[in-house]
Amino acid sequence: MTLLVQTVLSALWIVIPVYVANSIPVLAGGGRPIDDGRRWRERRILGDGKTWRGAILGTVAGALTVLVLNQISSLATSILGLSVPAFPTSAVVALPLGAILGDIGASFVKRRMDRERGSPVPVLDQLDFILGALIVTWMVAPAWFGAVVTPGVAFIVLLITPFVHRLSNVAAYVMRLKDEPW
Ligand code: CTP
Ligand code: MG
Repeated sequence: MTLLVQTVLSALWIVIPVYVANSIPVLAGGGRPIDDGRRWRERRILGDGKTWRGAILGTVAGALTVLVLNQISSLATSILGLSVPAFPTSAVVALPLGAILGDIGASFVKRRMDRERGSPVPVLDQLDFILGALIVTWMVAPAWFGAVVTPGVAFIVLLITPFVHRLSNVAAYVMRLKDEPW
């Protein structure tokens, strides 16, 4: 039982900066698109939904979140009576940047599939950013990744992310922050 609670706690803890990195662009993005309007084989490379401002602010906000979590990790551990993982310096940027790159990669794939900006592609839309964050962090901090992101933690992260993603998008849509509820 304790192992399960510990696994869920670790999963919840490490997804916080990833969710922040993925949400901030929706709230604060806009402006010049990363692809600058350029096309490849007649289709937009990424589309107007992927902007520099969103990518930079998302990465910075996610990195700050990692730093804050590290500051409060011993407090959280003593309150909860269970340990929360501390992030290594290399993960500070890797986690949020990976999330942003995953989201950008998915837009690239969506444009190749001839899907308009904002059109939903189930699974890809829900998991792009978390997979990006996990892959980049695994590349940058393999030892930490191996110790903290056990198969159980990775499973829970992938299991809860579509629900959190769906909930937060519906909330953003209701608050008129987003044009579509996905
Ligand atoms: N956003 C941004 N910069 C980013 C990512 C997102 O400015 N790097 C903003 C855009 O206003 C975007 C909104 O956040 O429209 C929602 O993001 P997302 O759902 O990922 O983009 P979509 O508009 O759905 O575009 P796509 O079809 O390419 O995923
Ligand atoms: Mg989208």
